[in-house]
Amino acid sequence: MPVASLLAGSTRPAEKSPGHGLARASGKGQKPPMSATYPAVRLRRTRASAWSRRMHAETVLTPADLIWPLFISEGDGVEDPIASLPGVSRWSVDGIVARAKEARDLGIPCIALFPNTPKHLRTDDGGEALNPDNLMCRAIRALKHAVPEIGVLTDVALDPYTAHGHDGLLDETGYVLNDQTAEVLVGQALNQAAAGADIIAPSDMMDGRVGLIREALETENYVNVQIMSYAAKYASGFYGPFRDAVGSRGLLKGDKKTYQMDSANAEEALREVALDLAEGADSVMVKPGLPYLDIILRVKSEFQVPVFAYQVSGEYAMIEAAVAAGAAERDAVVLETLMAFKRAGCSGVLTYHAAHAARLLNA
Ligand code: PBG
Repeated sequence: MPVASLLAGSTRPAEKSPGHGLARASGKGQKPPMSATYPAVRLRRTRASAWSRRMHAETVLTPADLIWPLFISEGDGVEDPIASLPGVSRWSVDGIVARAKEARDLGIPCIALFPNTPKHLRTDDGGEALNPDNLMCRAIRALKHAVPEIGVLTDVALDPYTAHGHDGLLDETGYVLNDQTAEVLVGQALNQAAAGADIIAPSDMMDGRVGLIREALETENYVNVQIMSYAAKYASGFYGPFRDAVGSRGLLKGDKKTYQMDSANAEEALREVALDLAEGADSVMVKPGLPYLDIILRVKSEFQVPVFAYQVSGEYAMIEAAVAAGAAERDAVVLETLMAFKRAGCSGVLTYHAAHAARLLNA
């Protein structure tokens, strides 16, 4: 059939009926007619070969988009597998340094650290968070010494240090106190910055803590230490394996709903983000990841700032369980989920699959 007759409308019965197809759309409030429709337009054309799919990709995913969360354990030469996170281990500081070198060689720009504090150092006030020689600080110093070319992101919250597993200080009723907790978090952040942390990542969800931490960093002359706030962090059922990894699951009494967000809320997430940015956050995080892609999209379109997602432990475990059950192919779903974050507007993703994904992307 000549092209001209294709464009002018063919003799196909379906195309004769008025109002059928965009090309015939008209009338008040409707968009002007488009120039052509099927078969002139065949969206499958650009998908027909691998080179063309690559050329038309709207989103790219590279190892530079990945942040690798690592769990630190006491000891030397220790690799301690985490049962609920198959394939993920806690490493002693020497192992953390080795993982950081691996990350650097894979092109991953940054690692995130979480300590499994020995039980005897956990107290109601989480005082170990302020110890300049705590596990976290020793790991930061070792990393900055051995692998200075990689970024170190440190979590600010008291849950790895408290005997009750909450992110802050409790009053006599068990309520997590805001302002008193924020004061301790400032000390924790300064302790991490002094050890060499590059990015302070408050994950505690106390009101006002970003501003207080920023002010303290300025005062103490850590002007280039970044803050990536866990701005929209939801009270989630997807954190279970993480709590195993840092040893707080068995200790935690109750839930974190008086400080972490309600999954019903999206406008509130935008308010959280607005406040954290006004208080001096350099970037914001949405957490968990995939169940909150709508939040990522809204934050990005509203604020045009760097947004990161945390694909959390339960999301990782879900993928691994599906793979183990033969219900999914790991490489495909790992890359697909990470691409989804980029497509939604993320600058990067914290993921336990970071090293595996980077290997796939480098292949
Ligand atoms: C601690 C913290 C949590 C995570 C990151 N920082 C757990 C929690 O809030 O209970 C979860 C990460 C994950 O599940 O992978 N404040």
